[in-house]
Amino acid sequence: GEIGDTPVYIGGQQFAAWKHTQLILDAVPGRGGMFSLDNGREQRFLVRGRAFDMQEIDMLDPVDRVRAMRAALADDPHRFWLDQARRISWSRFPTRSDDSSFDAGDFAISWFSDGELNLCVNCVDRHLETHGQKTAILFEGDEPGEGRRLTYRDLHEEVCRFANALKHLGVGKGDRVILYMPMVPEAAIAMLACARIGAVHSVVFGGFSPDSLADRINDCGARVVVTADQGMRGGRPIALKANVDGALAHCPAVDSVVVIRRTGADVAMIEARDHRWEELRETVSPDCPAEAMAAEDPLFILYTSGSTGKPKGVLHTTGGYLLWANLTYDILFGGRPDDIFWCTADVGWITGHTYVLYGPLSNGATTVMFDGVPGYPDAGRFWETAGRLGVSVFYTSPTAIRALMRDGDEWVERHDRSSLRLLGTVGEPINPEAWNWYHRVVGEGRCEIIDTWWQTETGGALIAPVPGETATRPGSATKPLPGVHPQLLDADGALLEGATEGNLVIAQSWPGQMRTVYGDHERFFQTYFTTYPGKYFTGDGARRDADGYYWITGRVDDVINVSGHRMGTAEVESALVAHPRVAEAAVVGMPHDIKGQGIYAYVTLNKGEEADDELRRELRQWVRQEIGPIATPDAIQFAPALPKTRSGKIMRRILRKIASGEADGIGDTSTLVDPDVVDRLINGSESAF
Ligand code: PRX
Repeated sequence: GEIGDTPVYIGGQQFAAWKHTQLILDAVPGRGGMFSLDNGREQRFLVRGRAFDMQEIDMLDPVDRVRAMRAALADDPHRFWLDQARRISWSRFPTRSDDSSFDAGDFAISWFSDGELNLCVNCVDRHLETHGQKTAILFEGDEPGEGRRLTYRDLHEEVCRFANALKHLGVGKGDRVILYMPMVPEAAIAMLACARIGAVHSVVFGGFSPDSLADRINDCGARVVVTADQGMRGGRPIALKANVDGALAHCPAVDSVVVIRRTGADVAMIEARDHRWEELRETVSPDCPAEAMAAEDPLFILYTSGSTGKPKGVLHTTGGYLLWANLTYDILFGGRPDDIFWCTADVGWITGHTYVLYGPLSNGATTVMFDGVPGYPDAGRFWETAGRLGVSVFYTSPTAIRALMRDGDEWVERHDRSSLRLLGTVGEPINPEAWNWYHRVVGEGRCEIIDTWWQTETGGALIAPVPGETATRPGSATKPLPGVHPQLLDADGALLEGATEGNLVIAQSWPGQMRTVYGDHERFFQTYFTTYPGKYFTGDGARRDADGYYWITGRVDDVINVSGHRMGTAEVESALVAHPRVAEAAVVGMPHDIKGQGIYAYVTLNKGEEADDELRRELRQWVRQEIGPIATPDAIQFAPALPKTRSGKIMRRILRKIASGEADGIGDTSTLVDPDVVDRLINGSESAF
């Protein structure tokens, strides 16, 4: 109906009513609903006709919507965030919004703290009434066309069953559950099932070694592991269950393993400990009530690499994370009820959590889960599959784009891409050449490119273009999303203004921010809030141009980004020195055409050991086994000595220059104990590959 010219709030968003001839409200027919006017008065209304949901509100111009959000936020942040909180369903609606402080004295990160909700209800149950028959998960296996569809109703039943199975195994609120899974619907089902009963999931990427898996299991104290017999990637089996067996030799606390059938391979099952999911499933009820969770109750732990030590367990909580996943998915990718959204990330990474599952599902969208690789069976796989499934929004990594670009345009052009309307990238800086190819060849120049900058720690995208609102520039993640306050600082912490380059910090909390390092709150504070007191330090460097666009230049700490996978140089070093013939190791990143960065290791052997190609191969194999294939060094240089200062510190700056083939730019070496070491390293660098 006509509301006149009073701004109207619907589903937590402000609309300028006069722009629209018709209002569509979130309500159930016959039961009516509520909208609030700008003067705070609430008006009841009754809906005739059919029920509408949030998605159909998106018929309003999305750009207007984001502009209205920015204006509302500037006007009254507390009210804005509580309005936004209406995007999701709460069993108790919060009255508090942001209670965070980055300062040492009253350090806290807290959002919507008096609210109560359940993530699984938001991703599944609340869609049943309006679109239970809509496809929630579109599974595409390793072989083209090997797939299945789960409607929201199917998903609900499977999740309830899985939740009951977990309860049967003794899992309750707050307990940690490890998932070591292929990209099959059961991974999503198990994650949602954990959330339903208040258990905390921690997904470990299936490419990690048994040792890496064991470290994560022990760090979070999980008792239950969910896995599959095998994974299947690019036509090759991955021994998931066997790896779990290997890991569990070091994990005395684990008493139950749930094994999902993926390939049907014959795997060892240990009596009383190992359970077949297909058998458990038949014994449990398809009804399971959802646990009411406080907004700040833990939702999941995801391990990620930092500059020092072992990977840390990034902990996200329920309310703020879900809201940020929901909101960012909606304004970046969402907007059309019939969209088919395909994010190619694995659920073992944060992108898989937020944009394969929680963002799309909480918005009632259809999401693709892909269990294959871009080059199998051939380099046309992405586009063949996108065409066949009718994918409209496609989100992948710069590494995949660069690799496919190298394979040639014909692999793209032979497949129909007319369903695509929007293309996204994430995980690493995208070079303008790859950006342009993605835009011109894949997107036929029609589709906007959404380069999204964010981190495991941030829960969802922070800097990214809003389609239609922000004009894109190849290689720039553009501008902050509403509620995100980036700043650039120099090495001394001074704020840099205007067009400049510096270290990227975020000045204020946002709902999706991580809450702690699991089991080590002090490490959390030390890692992120002490480099620049009062600010969240991202570990990234960035340039800002005269128009306020951000251009992420990459990590400024000892983290490297290999094919979009984060790797701590310290982790690779400790794997190398664990080898009996290695005395010392230093690892740095080097430029790599496809992977963005490669891993370059300098290795000093024990006295009397001979360096040869055989040992180089052995060390590469060793690191694969210790950490996983993603950590395999691209180059190993045997170095009799490393460049050290008098205090014994390795000068990595020099090692990075040599690894990058920029020996000319090494600069001052006078503080080294033995400056001649540098020349010897430069001369020996040719033999590293
Ligand atoms: O260096 C940045 C890079 O990836 C890091 C975060 O890695 P991870 O926690 O594994 O999360 C990856 C997926 C969100 C960042 O510190 N990075 C991520 N996205 C971009 C990026 N660098 C440049 N441009 C991006 N769009």
